[in-house]
Amino acid sequence: MTAHYEVRGDVAVITLDNPPVNGLGLSTRLGIVDGLEKANADAAVKSIVLTGAGKAFSGGADIKEFGSPKAYQDPNLLSVIRAVENADKPVVAAIHSVAMGGGLELALGCHYRVVAAGTKVALPEVKLGLIPGAGGTQRLPRVIGVEAAVSMIVSGEAMNAEMLAAIPGQKLFDEVVMSADGLMDAAVKLAQKVADVRPLPLVSKLPNKHPQGDAYFQFTRNMVKGMAKNFPAPVKCVDAVEAGTKMKFEQGLANEREIFINLMMTPECRALRHIFVADRATSKIPDVPSDTPKRDIQKVAVIGAGTMGGGISMNFLNAGIPVTILEMTQEALDRGVGVIRKNYEARVKKGKLKQEKYEATMALLSTTLAYDDIKDADLVIEAVFEEMGVKEKVFKQLDAVMKPGAILASNTSTLDVDKIASFTQRPHDVVGLHFFSPANVMKLLEVVRGKATAKDVMATVMAVGKKIKKTTVVSGVCDGFIGNRMIEQYSRQAGFMLDEGASPEQIDKAIEKFGFAMGPFRMGDLAGNDIGWAIRKRRYVDKPEVRYSASADRLCELGRFGQKTGAGWYDYAPGQRKPIPSPVVAEMLEKHRADIGVPQRKISDEEIVQRLVFAMVNEAAHILEEGIASKASDIDMVYLTGYGFPIFRGGPMRYADEMGLFNVVQAMKRFAKNPADDGAFWTPAPLIQRLVAEGKNFTGQL
Ligand code: NAI
Repeated sequence: MTAHYEVRGDVAVITLDNPPVNGLGLSTRLGIVDGLEKANADAAVKSIVLTGAGKAFSGGADIKEFGSPKAYQDPNLLSVIRAVENADKPVVAAIHSVAMGGGLELALGCHYRVVAAGTKVALPEVKLGLIPGAGGTQRLPRVIGVEAAVSMIVSGEAMNAEMLAAIPGQKLFDEVVMSADGLMDAAVKLAQKVADVRPLPLVSKLPNKHPQGDAYFQFTRNMVKGMAKNFPAPVKCVDAVEAGTKMKFEQGLANEREIFINLMMTPECRALRHIFVADRATSKIPDVPSDTPKRDIQKVAVIGAGTMGGGISMNFLNAGIPVTILEMTQEALDRGVGVIRKNYEARVKKGKLKQEKYEATMALLSTTLAYDDIKDADLVIEAVFEEMGVKEKVFKQLDAVMKPGAILASNTSTLDVDKIASFTQRPHDVVGLHFFSPANVMKLLEVVRGKATAKDVMATVMAVGKKIKKTTVVSGVCDGFIGNRMIEQYSRQAGFMLDEGASPEQIDKAIEKFGFAMGPFRMGDLAGNDIGWAIRKRRYVDKPEVRYSASADRLCELGRFGQKTGAGWYDYAPGQRKPIPSPVVAEMLEKHRADIGVPQRKISDEEIVQRLVFAMVNEAAHILEEGIASKASDIDMVYLTGYGFPIFRGGPMRYADEMGLFNVVQAMKRFAKNPADDGAFWTPAPLIQRLVAEGKNFTGQL
């Protein structure tokens, strides 16, 4: 059992001890109930203190039990809380560090609560697409008032104990002690003081009303609905609290349970739980154990002060790590540093960054034109032009000057990292660090593992990614790595659908309705259609067998590169970003369709979404099979953090699972027959066929 029991004089102490955060897994729940039974049975015990060992009172549900039947096995959390409430003797919660989710709900079942200042208190269930399910929506309003409780439950955000203790009339905490050191003494003292109090005070017996009930809840529900968009849970939080103000406690509790169970079965909740687990799993590399030694990264150098070099540098400056940028000319350096400055100054102006902090951050930045000045850096990241010849020159220089053990990284988005590594005598120190633009904003960092990259280099760059607050996903070497290799199939499908008769605006609208922030054509106009044009020329030059719609080439031949030229797939009014359907593009497409002679038809929005998404899924299955990605959930994280895939759908792989892989295969077979499409591409990847045959899916979640 992961809770232990001891008796101190006439006070029994039950201590949760389930590291790291005293998750309320089955063995902890059993331990609590066992402790209560012992205390109830011992005549020498007059009262009970319940606390947590180590770093938390309790962080709530045990994530190790996530999705397993153990999470609900008796005694479940509701029964444990009931056992606490029904104890024969007063139970005092001694709360420190963290009391979240089920942890807070457990504390609310205790008769008294003493808290250490600085404790973080939250009901974060909404972040997993749920409402609190063990009385949180019923008990919290009774101790801090309806409005404060709704705000905590709907946001899921943590509050400091002192802030909650300052709420007038609050009954959440009986006592706040200034430091965790004095907590147990204070809790034991209170336990002794209240030993004879009867009847025992119960939160469930406190009143639960809002003076302007109906008006308040109506207003709040409307506001929450507007903000929650595609997520059902936040509004359900309001519903559960409101019901509690109108029902008897037991009824309110049953209602909360029903809502909780219904939400548990929604795709949105499955998506959020999947993301919760997927996010934590990204840092795990199957053959690089977590205790692999890491190299010390104190100083960073960046080669190239362009779009990417500047953004990459900012990540390290923000983390307090000194950066030296190397360029070819002073002018390029001045321009690059100017952009960084401007970025920070905008934040200062908006009040998001203090002037002193800005100055301290800029003081960490230095520039140079000489390789000799960067030779001591622990990590150097190259972000020069995307040409193998230029990369070769740079890596040969780096190999010549960098100290032994320095990590040499490339931000290349399309070139072969193994080839780049081969320009050096130390390919084991070379790795790809593929940032996304704008690099100081985008969460995603693809770590490209070369065939020679050393394990300690991998362990180090994963830790560096964490330090600069990125979602760091490992990819093997291939053209486009995980993200761009999949997006290529998405773009090809968008093109084929143009050929078959859909308009750019119909395609954009359909996928935006699905939840993408921007459809492929608006995206192209924003990023610059010439970039894709250059990539196609390079990629397809010696691959005449690759089919794609030439409409994008026709567009570029008209000079319509996108917003930067004032025209792309859409027209733009001068200085405006609002896309206006373009008659010129419509005419160009009509001519192009006539030239290729593909029969025209109306394509449904459903088909548009499925062709775009399933094309990525099929490519992703090949990526998994080739070992380029080690798990499906990593692919989802790439798309959620780097490509604007809708969060409430959990990523492309989770979405395919949600649709059912059998149905995905059926759709692929239909798409293979489309006249403009690449029929061969739609052969379901062997991995998908195998999963369907075995009745399995990508993410293992039902
Ligand atoms: P950019 O053209 O804005 O900047 C490149 C900079 O490198 C220029 O300032 C140039 O003066 C400098 N440079 C060129 N050769 C050099 C040399 N031998 N020594 C020192 N400096 C040199 O290019 P951008 O967009 O920043 O791209 C850089 C790299 O990042 C490329 O490999 C690109 O594929 C990759 N990348 C670009 C993304 C983007 O969205 N722009 C996204 C992810 C990766």
